[in-house]
Amino acid sequence: MIPKSTNIRRARQEISLHKRWEKNSHASGVIWFTGLSGSGKSTLASELEQLLFDRNKQVVSLDGDDLRYGLCADLGFLPEDRAENIRRVGEVASLFSASGAIVLTAFISPYRADRLKARKAAVGNFHEIYLSADLNTCIDRDPKGLYAKAQRGEISHFTGISAPYEAPESPELTLDTGLLDVKKSLKILDEYVEKAFSL
Ligand code: ADX
Repeated sequence: MIPKSTNIRRARQEISLHKRWEKNSHASGVIWFTGLSGSGKSTLASELEQLLFDRNKQVVSLDGDDLRYGLCADLGFLPEDRAENIRRVGEVASLFSASGAIVLTAFISPYRADRLKARKAAVGNFHEIYLSADLNTCIDRDPKGLYAKAQRGEISHFTGISAPYEAPESPELTLDTGLLDVKKSLKILDEYVEKAFSL
């Protein structure tokens, strides 16, 4: 996005990204989970965060429902609101990544164009992880009872029911969370992250 402000200048970074990586003994970047509601984004992000934290990694996670209480409290679920939601998350994730952290994000992020913008905004690595549990699996699970509400017409623009989900075309990793249980998914993620963020 081109800034609206004129007469602005970027602050000088005295501490280089590389120095931060060396201090933490790992690289920084964004692990961007995307998938339908109920596909396991929040669960896996939270389990992975705990696992990395226990190994002394600099890790932070951002979750869709959480951010909608604060930073994104002014946004709903229309396409333009979701675009703005993902733009903000992409920028925040980039800031944390620039500070040296491994950032885990758990957002439906249903539109390819929005995810691409988040990828472009990221300082450091960006890894799109597609949790590909299919719609029927997510409807069967319905952990928050939202699919049932959406099917009764009580929630509008609900992803998978009355709003689209555009699956990633070339994600860095796909986990079929309809088939894999949490433990198995976590093991794959653990190995992936160890490799992707090692120096
Ligand atoms: S996103 O599309 O903008 O990325 P986000 O991940 O922040 O969505 O929020 C999704 C969460 O909001 C869901 O997990 C669900 O709990 C809740 N939610 C409420 N209304 C909707 C809706 N219409 N579509 C999807 N999720 C909804």
